[in-house]
Amino acid sequence: MNQQGRVRPAQHRDDAAILTLEELFPSDRMSMRSVRHFLKSPSARTWVAELEGAVVGNLILLTRKNSCVARIYSVVVAPPARGRRFAERLIRAAEAEARTLGLKQIKLEVRADNAAARALYAKLGYAEDEALPGYYEDGADGLRLCHTFGHEPPATEPAPGL
Ligand SMILES: CC(C)(COP(=O)(O)OP(=O)(O)OC[C@H]1O[C@@H](n2cnc3c(N)ncnc32)[C@H](O)[C@@H]1OP(=O)(O)O)[C@@H](O)C(=O)NCCC(=O)NCCS
Repeated sequence: MNQQGRVRPAQHRDDAAILTLEELFPSDRMSMRSVRHFLKSPSARTWVAELEGAVVGNLILLTRKNSCVARIYSVVVAPPARGRRFAERLIRAAEAEARTLGLKQIKLEVRADNAAARALYAKLGYAEDEALPGYYEDGADGLRLCHTFGHEPPATEPAPGL
C-alpha cells in the first residue's frame, strides 16, 4: 500500500468525494451542481489527493480568458490525512499547471482566522495582498493572498541519491 498517497487530476467520478470534503468548510460551501460544473469547465482544473484508494483532498484552480492570473478557488484535506503534505502537493500541482499555461500569478482568498491555511501559504511564498473585511457568508474577515512566479525553476523531487 502506498503510504505517501498521490495527487492526480480529478475525474467526473470524484464528484461525490469532493462534495463530502466541502463539508469541512465552515461557510461558502459548493453545491454538487458547482462541483460538477468545475469538473467539466475548461476554465477550471481540479486535482485530488488519494490515499489508499480514497480521495482525501482536492484543489480547484480557476483561469480566465485573457488573464495571466489564476485563482485557487478551493483547497481542502480530510482531517485524518492532514500533516502529510497533501495540501502542499496539491498547490504545487496547480502552480506547475499555471506555469505551463504561461500564467504569471496565483491569487486566492483565505479566512483571516484560518491559522493552518495561512501558515501553509506563507511557507509556499504567498504574500498578503489585501484585507477583505466581512468577505465570507458568515461575516468572517478574509485576506487575499498572491504568489507571483519568478524565474526560479518549479519545485521538483530531488534525484535519488542526492
Ligand atoms: C489547511 C489545510 C488544507 C492543510 O492541509 P495539510 O495537507 O494538512 O497541509 P500540509 O501537510 O501540506 O502542510 C504544509 C505546511 O502547511 C503548514 N500547516 C499545515 N497545517 C498546519 C497547522 N494545522 N498549523 C500550522 N501550520 C500548518 C505547515 O507549514 C506545513 O508545513 P510543515 O509540514 O513543513 O510544517 C487543511 O488543514 C484543511 O483542509 N483545512 C480546512 C480547509 C481549509 O482551511 N482550506 C484552506 C482554505 S484557503
